[in-house]
Amino acid sequence: EKGDFPHHMLKEIYEQPETLANAMRGRLEADNATAHFGGLNLGAQQLRQIDRVVMTACGTSYHAALVGEYLFEELARVPVEVEYASELRYRNPPMDRNTVVLALTQSGETADTLAALRESKRMGHTTLAICNAVGSSIAREADGGVYLHAGPEIGVASTKAFTSQVAVLAMLALYLGRTRHLSSTQGQRIIAELQALPDVIRKTLECHDQVKLVAQKYAGAKNVLYLGRQYLYPVALEGALKLKEISYIHAEGYPAAEMKHGPIALVDENTPSVFLVPRGNVFDKVMSNMQEIKARGGPVIAIASAGDHEVSAVADDVIEIPDVPEYLQPIVTAIPLQLLAYEIALLCGCDVDKPRNLAKSVTVE
Ligand code: F6R
Repeated sequence: EKGDFPHHMLKEIYEQPETLANAMRGRLEADNATAHFGGLNLGAQQLRQIDRVVMTACGTSYHAALVGEYLFEELARVPVEVEYASELRYRNPPMDRNTVVLALTQSGETADTLAALRESKRMGHTTLAICNAVGSSIAREADGGVYLHAGPEIGVASTKAFTSQVAVLAMLALYLGRTRHLSSTQGQRIIAELQALPDVIRKTLECHDQVKLVAQKYAGAKNVLYLGRQYLYPVALEGALKLKEISYIHAEGYPAAEMKHGPIALVDENTPSVFLVPRGNVFDKVMSNMQEIKARGGPVIAIASAGDHEVSAVADDVIEIPDVPEYLQPIVTAIPLQLLAYEIALLCGCDVDKPRNLAKSVTVE
């Protein structure tokens, strides 16, 4: 069932143009310049009353939630708090009546996420879930939800679920935003940008050859840093997690500007930094963070807009991706990081589909 692919993980990475199209199918409404979801079970009034969202998840799904925080803030102007499910379940945070708890989970069976959802429900909050596995415990127990429709994810390292979670969060942000301040012109622009995404991802996958060269150069590293800002900070966390879990190389994700507050002490000629630096609002800021690393002799791998000479003049290696609006950059930049982890793990001789010590679905606390 892996088809022509040697591993489930690689197959699932390459499925992303289709899985993203599936996440959006039938959900974008050009006429009203909004999105809609069959199973949300929230009326327009309830939706309008939401004044805070608490997102909860584990692992990769938690990183998607962190992207969701930026999306909801920018597109819907709704305050968001993101909390690890394992922490939320034992916290007792004050939440008012109009707070909605949104659980994100690929499997729908993660024990901590399920417990956090149940505890929120018990307290009388409306609970929603963004879930991939149809009919799973979390999908059944939430008051409403959105399925990813990404198909089974078999590789233990989550890939296509992450990009679909972010796409669903962007659609939810559009939906919420359109009940608030977003104009229909803005809504229509977002719809067009979302609809273009599957083709953009097809193009992004062409970076695979560049990724292979980079992997060969750095597969011997003992430590790797992943750095990004704003929308790309959670992607830095996710890139580091992918590398750790399948290649067993130590990696850390940081907001690029935090480096100077301590972690830059780790930088030396054997510690590469992967910079997420496509064109956008914070481009100049990230470039100066990159210079700081170069000045300490650290090798720099840049994930950058195609043909960006300013980046290639500084970085040791560049992996090129297509330009998209900033709120979609998490989806596009995740692709080379998934491929990089995959290629490095292969070179290290690791079993990418079944990394040691890990299970696909963590049903114990
Ligand atoms: C990372 C990974 C895990 C899961 C986490 C949550 O690649 O697969 O970190 O993301 O265990 O799983 P779900 O999304 O099924 O709740």
